[in-house]
Amino acid sequence: MKYYTIDQLPTLNKNSSKLARFAVIGNPVEHSLSPQLHQPALDDLEKDARYIRVEVKVDQVREAIQELHSAGIHGINVTIPHKLEALEACDLVDPSAQIMGAVNTIVFDKDGSCTGFNTDGPGFARAIREEFSVDLGDLKVIIIGAGGGAGRAIATQCAIENCPQVILANRTLGKLHPIKEQLSKLIDREDLKGPRDRIEILDLSDPSLEQAIGSSELIVNTTSVGLKATDPSPFPSHWVEPHHLVYDTIYNPERTRLLRDCRDQGARVANGLSLLLHQGALSLEYWLNQDIPLELMREGVKNALKE
Ligand code: ATR
Repeated sequence: MKYYTIDQLPTLNKNSSKLARFAVIGNPVEHSLSPQLHQPALDDLEKDARYIRVEVKVDQVREAIQELHSAGIHGINVTIPHKLEALEACDLVDPSAQIMGAVNTIVFDKDGSCTGFNTDGPGFARAIREEFSVDLGDLKVIIIGAGGGAGRAIATQCAIENCPQVILANRTLGKLHPIKEQLSKLIDREDLKGPRDRIEILDLSDPSLEQAIGSSELIVNTTSVGLKATDPSPFPSHWVEPHHLVYDTIYNPERTRLLRDCRDQGARVANGLSLLLHQGALSLEYWLNQDIPLELMREGVKNALKE
């Protein structure tokens, strides 16, 4: 079964030895890699649980969460386009998920109430540590595409981690004003004040983008530019220098034009597979409250990408 619809939930456990216990909701959801990511870990931990995909229509997330709980689901991942709607539908929302404006993980309490979390931000911090052996909080960061969902989650994490500089760049500048306002509150403490604003916003076409990239240590692409094999780099990659760390949240294709060009420039580069992995592992930690076999999850998703 590639995915279920809400109408099919009553038949969820017919013809299956393992009970459906975890689910990803989205639309479309057919291509979500979450089952391939989570199932190997659930099997290894002998949870006797199945991880399924469920297609949910826009404006039906609240009902879907209730129906899934009634159908015996213990935890839900939320993907595009439902992350904001899920935030609004949860009984409680973790404060950082609130600032990120998105929930990607739902945990049910014993009484059936649900709490929403966002593991994209913390998962990104873990990914940066794994890829580059540095703490995100020690880096001057520029986020290209900070107005999108992933960009906002990562920007929030940078503020939470107290990065010395966070530059938010986006094609549509207007989306960045409310984000800057939210994030400034996080770091608006006397002891963190410096000669310039720690959080700056920039139009992608602003001529000072080159200098902003030059002054950064970590460059993160959260735009969708690169998803198509023929896509260009989202900014001129000859601006990148060997001292830069470059993280592209895209993992398919494995090497975007940006990553290929930046590697040629001598920079250290990584793709979004580690983010996918760590945000998933964090969800599982919330649900199971135990250590997770991370390498099995990595293998699972890598195999799925080869198919
Ligand atoms: P979301 O992540 O919220 O679903 P999205 O539409 O997938 O959003 O876009 C993610 C990011 O990619 C956004 O920052 C978007 O810029 P805008 O806010 O200006 O739309 C960015 N993006 C998409 N296509 C782009 C392009 N051709 N050039 C530059 N940025 C682009």
